[in-house]
Amino acid sequence: MAIKTRITELLEIEHPIVQGGMQGVGVAELASAVSNAGGLGILTALTQPSPTALRAEIDRCRGMTAKPFGVNLTVFPTINSPDYKAYAQAIIDGGIRIVETAGTPAVREIWEQLKPHGVVILHKCTAVRHALSAERAGCDVISIDGFECAGHPGEDDIPGLILIPAAADKVKIPMLASGGFGDGRGLVAALALGADGINMGTRFCATQEARIHPNVKQAYLDNDERGTYLIFRNFKNTARVGKNEVSTEVVRRLAEPGATFRDVQELVAGSAGRELLESGDMAKGVFWAGMVQGLIDDIPTCDQLFVSKTGTTEKIVNGRLAAMVA
Ligand SMILES: Cc1cc2nc3c(=O)[nH]c(=O)nc-3n(C[C@H](O)[C@H](O)[C@H](O)COP(=O)(O)O)c2cc1C
Repeated sequence: MAIKTRITELLEIEHPIVQGGMQGVGVAELASAVSNAGGLGILTALTQPSPTALRAEIDRCRGMTAKPFGVNLTVFPTINSPDYKAYAQAIIDGGIRIVETAGTPAVREIWEQLKPHGVVILHKCTAVRHALSAERAGCDVISIDGFECAGHPGEDDIPGLILIPAAADKVKIPMLASGGFGDGRGLVAALALGADGINMGTRFCATQEARIHPNVKQAYLDNDERGTYLIFRNFKNTARVGKNEVSTEVVRRLAEPGATFRDVQELVAGSAGRELLESGDMAKGVFWAGMVQGLIDDIPTCDQLFVSKTGTTEKIVNGRLAAMVA
């Protein structure tokens, strides 16, 4: 069964399923596997150490798939920010047609840089008001991330069951539902709630092609739906990470009166997270994970995942739901 939506048409993909940008995970092996399976794979720009390396990674991915794929650029300006504009230029030079953006309002400069080159912009956000302002600014697709998601769920704590239809009521451009999606049931639910497709992160980490250590994949299987923490609430920069001994310690330290970022800085360092993903030593740092861990119990190839997803979707739509309609 093929599901055709505004997303499959606009992005020229077979299934309305997008792999969200993932720091440390979104490299050519995974992005090309997702695209080859009929979804949209996405490289994560800042996983590459420089714009030149990103340009090379785009070429490497193109060598692994003839299908469309995109690049994620996440913009969180800090004192030592990467050169976002140079990364955006590498995306343009690499001939990329689809870019997923996320981050603070500073991302607008990146939209302005990409738009004249005909790039389709998928903007990921966590609130209806942010979705509407991205739409007004000329973005092409909204990816709305509910409270369940891995990464940055925002500060409003609105789960997908409310956020997706609330956004669908107001957003006119195509919309992806994100956060908490892992199987065909989620896909049907997202479409029923008014989305044109889904975006997944955590589920794609537990696939054969994700180039991370097997111990990390196993952690996604071992953790259930309660296996995440919200950290950095104190700093209004909430992040959802998987439960391990390091994130447990981060939560403990941040609960102390007067806790500051300095108190956890070494535990949450990006370099520590990278080491965890590569070495499989789960005591090295924190790792991003969503509540959808509770629905993950295997490590399929992306192709197998898509086959089972579309099979389940068909069974639900043509079987379970059809049988309920009097
Ligand atoms: C390991 C990992 C790394 C992530 N890194 C980023 C990132 O760099 N930029 C970003 O916009 N989102 C990032 N995300 C969020 C995903 O793109 C996606 O929005 C989220 O995972 C959706 O929720 P789900 O995990 O429940 O599917 C990351 C998620 C994971 C699991």
